[in-house]
Amino acid sequence: MNIFAVIVAAGSGERFGGRPKQLAPLSGMPMLAWSVKRLGDRRNITGLVCVVPPRGGDDIRGGLEGFGVGDIDAWPEGGETRQESVRNGLAALPPEATHVLIHDAARPCVTERLISRLTDALRDHDAVVPVTPAVDTLVHVEGDSVDRVVDRSHIAGVQTPQAFELGLIRRAHAAAKDTGTTASDDGSLVLALGERLATVEGERMNIKVTYAEDMAIADAILMLETRE
Ligand code: C5P
Repeated sequence: MNIFAVIVAAGSGERFGGRPKQLAPLSGMPMLAWSVKRLGDRRNITGLVCVVPPRGGDDIRGGLEGFGVGDIDAWPEGGETRQESVRNGLAALPPEATHVLIHDAARPCVTERLISRLTDALRDHDAVVPVTPAVDTLVHVEGDSVDRVVDRSHIAGVQTPQAFELGLIRRAHAAAKDTGTTASDDGSLVLALGERLATVEGERMNIKVTYAEDMAIADAILMLETRE
């Protein structure tokens, strides 16, 4: 197995107040540096590709300088949607790559434990996603009223990184492009092919920084971890 990582960091940060959040300072480093460092430090991950906003590559490269984030193999430009950005990232992987972890830069609290759980699972599965059980009561809402309660016992939230055999995820993205299928993550596209999607346990602390106020939570999580 020759595992590479693709980090997508080409979002425009619309829900974050309209500014790109990749370089927003978080516990002493730009947000993107956390994911790059944690994926890059794993011995069983051979290399990294970082997908950046169109014409934003120099800013991002410059912003990471001095934080000891090591080598990045390629800096492809992203597209209009996350899906397009991932596709560009997959196209930029070197020919020796056989497997890939696809990760959102917006999840800076990814841990080495979770990365290892995913790479271990790749020995037995071609597509693996981390899931966390739903803890809130879940309801279906119609207008401003609750329509019905959803049985949460089989409901889970899906996180990144997500781990794939490279041929399979490339096939899933190509098929999605052909059929016009869109999805908010990559596992969904594997499922759309009719292939098995395995799970590993995700982490409650692996939050997604979506709104500006999520930064304070991520900051607290990273501070807690570095104190452990
Ligand atoms: O917008 P959202 O929070 O779903 O983005 C998830 C991840 O996808 C972020 O890390 C963001 O930078 C990335 N993204 C991207 N290209 C886009 C949209 C989002 O790389 N066009």
